[in-house]
This record gives sequence, structure tokens and C-alpha cells, in this order.
Amino acid sequence: MKPSILSVFSLVLSTTAAPSDAGFSLVGFAKDHPPGTTTGGAGKNSKTVTVTTVAEFKKVVTDNEPTIIYANDTFNLTSRVQIGSNKSLIGLGKGAQIIGAGLNIYSQTNVIIRNFGLTAIPDDAITIRNSTRVWIDHNEFTTGNFTANGPDLYDGQLDIIRANDWITVSWNYFHDHWKSSLHHNYWRNMGTRGPAGRFGHQHIYNNLYEDFLYQAIHSRSDNQVLVEANVFKGKTREALSTYGLVIPDDSPNTSLDGDFEIDGYANLGAANNFGTAGVNITQGGDFATAPYVYTLTTLGEVKIVVKKGVGLGKIHEQ
Ligand SMILES: *[C@@H]1O[C@H](CO)[C@@H](O)[C@H](O)[C@H]1NC(C)=O
Ligand SMILES: *[C@@H]1O[C@H](CO)[C@@H](O)[C@H](O)[C@H]1NC(C)=O
Ligand SMILES: *[C@@H]1O[C@H](CO)[C@@H](O)[C@H](O)[C@H]1NC(C)=O
Ligand SMILES: *[C@@H]1O[C@H](CO)[C@@H](O)[C@H](O)[C@H]1NC(C)=O
Ligand SMILES: *[C@@H]1O[C@H](CO)[C@@H](O)[C@H](O)[C@H]1NC(C)=O
Ligand SMILES: *[C@@H]1O[C@H](CO)[C@@H](O)[C@H](O)[C@H]1NC(C)=O
Ligand SMILES: *[C@@H]1O[C@H](CO)[C@@H](O)[C@H](O)[C@H]1NC(C)=O
Repeated sequence: MKPSILSVFSLVLSTTAAPSDAGFSLVGFAKDHPPGTTTGGAGKNSKTVTVTTVAEFKKVVTDNEPTIIYANDTFNLTSRVQIGSNKSLIGLGKGAQIIGAGLNIYSQTNVIIRNFGLTAIPDDAITIRNSTRVWIDHNEFTTGNFTANGPDLYDGQLDIIRANDWITVSWNYFHDHWKSSLHHNYWRNMGTRGPAGRFGHQHIYNNLYEDFLYQAIHSRSDNQVLVEANVFKGKTREALSTYGLVIPDDSPNTSLDGDFEIDGYANLGAANNFGTAGVNITQGGDFATAPYVYTLTTLGEVKIVVKKGVGLGKIHEQ
């Protein structure tokens, strides 16, 4: 399978403040933008439902009516489910689970997904295409055992492709995956794409990377990243690069010599801790400050704050 790639206009990868519900509020591009903040299913004429079966789940997620959907239990999908606009999907308690097939957000606006585990899903767990105002928060993405499966069976975990805007990806836990198409928070034992960006802008701050084997943040094809106060630990070959070459490890069986694109750009904001990982910035570009208010966790606190705050069972909605 051809690797999926990230092309977002504006994306924020963040962990921001301390791990309390208050500190988990929406920050960044999904909040501060011209059409107004991302509200999901909240607002006037909003309905609230709790679903426990796949049939109930599918019945309420696909239309565009403002709906807050609390999900309890495991949803074993037989095919991908398209999520409609104006939706908040919130896993209850220790998180709802999606298995079997993933979710698509295609040509939609105003979608929130929080507290879902997405495990061993072929293709991407969540694909966002041609959509605006999306907040992906406090989820856990894993393939289970990526070395056994190889890089091509499971595609990106969260894939934000083609003409998306105003997206925040916060407090997620991505682990044991070869090609993580993007995100943040806590990335452990991954191969490439943490994230890889093309033609967009990503503000990547306060993420923790552990054993990101090949290439973590890769900005290419005129993409611009602003990278600050992230921590890289363990075996990570390259923390940040902007050269156009897509290394062969990104997709070994489809491009033995790698693919060639034009370079991207990167600016460094507040200091990062790159550990022993390499950094290769070929050009800086003009994305040097984020156009919204946010609070940086100090570098020394990133590891503990991120590990404590990410993933399932951390939000206390409802
Ligand atoms: C979730 O489901 C469990 C068992 O299926 C049930 O005991 C529990 O009350 C449900 N929780 C909510 C909030 O609906
Ligand atoms: C999910 O459903 C598929 C059939 O669609 C089945 O083969 C599989 O065992 C189910 N998984 C679980 C964990 O129940
Ligand atoms: C829901 O989403 C649609 C886009 O599909 C938008 O035009 C509409 O205004 C939204 N409805 C509400 C009530 O927010
Ligand atoms: C993108 O989404 C808009 C609605 O927001 C729709 O009108 C348009 O046709 C979509 N474009 C593509 C290429 O899917
Ligand atoms: C992952 O797969 C490899 C190769 O099949 C196997 O050696 C290893 O024990 C597996 N690890 C886990 C945690 O299942
Ligand atoms: C690559 O292709 C070879 C030959 O088809 C296959 O044996 C191998 O498992 C593949 N490797 C991965 C990582 O998919
Ligand atoms: C950075 O990448 C460029 C382009 O691939 C390469 O020519 C250069 O040697 C690299 N620099 C370092 C320090 O690795």
C-alpha cells in the first residue's frame, strides 16, 4: 500500500497545560480560527445519546445533526464508518474501543473524537480528508505488534490528508506502529511519520517520543513546521528533518531507494531535547510563531506530564 501522507494546512500537536480536566481543554488551530471554535455536537438543538452496539453507533454518527454521542463498550466494525459533521464522539470511563475497521471524516466540519482506543485496524484508524475543525484528543492508537505485521499492512494511524484545516491533535498515545501519519503526545516504538507533513503547517510542541526508530518529524514538499519543547528519548535515529527524500524505511517494499520530493521547512521555538537523535533542517521558512495563545509545559516536565495525561480514561466528561 502506498504510504499515506499528511497534508494539512494548519495542525497543532500539543500537550499544553497540566493534566487535569481544566488543562485538557481545546487549544490551538481547532479553537482559534475564523469560523469559530470546534464544538462538535454541542450547542443549540444538540441531542445527547449513549450507544452500546454497532447498529446504534452507525445510526447516530453519520448525519450532520449536532449530537453528543457517548460510547460504551467495544464496537467491532465490519467496514469503515463515515462520521458526519457536528459530532462529539466520547468514549465513556476507561474508553470505548473501535476494532475491525476504522473511521473516516471526509468533507465534514466540526468533529470531536475523545477517549477511544483504536486497535489493530487495517488501513488508517482515522482518516481525515477535506475537513475542517477537528479535535482528536485522548485516544490510544496501536497495532499490537508492528514488527510481526510489517509496515504495509497497517497504514497510518491518524491520517490527515488533502485540504484539511484547523485541526488539533492532543494527548493521544500512539504506540507500536510503523508509519504513524501524525500526531502527538506520546509516541512510543514507532517507525516513521511523527508526523510527516506536506504542503501544510504544523505546530508541534510538548510531545514525548520514545524509540521512534527512523524518522520522527519530517517536513517535506514545502511543508512548514514549528517545533518546540519536545523530548526525544531512547533509540530515535532522526528527530527532525526537512530534506525531501522519503527514506526507504518509510515504506520499504514500495520504494527501495526512497522517494524524492522537494524540501520542507522547520523553525525551532522553545528549546527541544533531541537526545541522541539527529536534526537536519535544510531551510527555515516563515512559520516561526503560532497564531494563537497556548501554554508550554517546560521541557523538564514534558515526560511526566505527557505520560500522566495521555490516552484513555483521563477525561471525565458526562
Ligand atoms: C456501560 O456498560 C456497562 C455494561 O455493559 C454498564 O454496566 C454501564 O452502566 C454502562 N455505562 C454507562 C455510563 O452507560
Ligand atoms: C470482530 O468481527 C469479526 C467478523 O466481522 C470477527 O471475525 C472477529 O472475531 C470479531 N472480533 C472480536 C474481538 O470479537
Ligand atoms: C452542521 O454541519 C453542517 C455542515 O455539514 C453545517 O452547514 C451546519 O451549519 C451544521 N449545523 C449546525 C446546527 O451546527
Ligand atoms: C470538500 O468539502 C466540501 C464541503 O465542505 C464539498 O463541498 C466539496 O465538494 C469537497 N471536495 C471534495 C474534493 O471532496
Ligand atoms: C511480536 O512479533 C514478534 C515476531 O513475530 C514476536 O517475536 C514477538 O514475541 C511479538 N511480541 C509481542 C509482544 O507479541
Ligand atoms: C517485503 O516483500 C517481501 C517479498 O515480497 C516479503 O517477504 C516481506 O515480508 C515484505 N516486507 C515487509 C516489511 O512487508
Ligand atoms: C542533511 O540532508 C541533506 C540533504 O539530504 C544532506 O545533503 C546533508 O548531508 C544532511 N546533513 C546532515 C548534517 O546530515
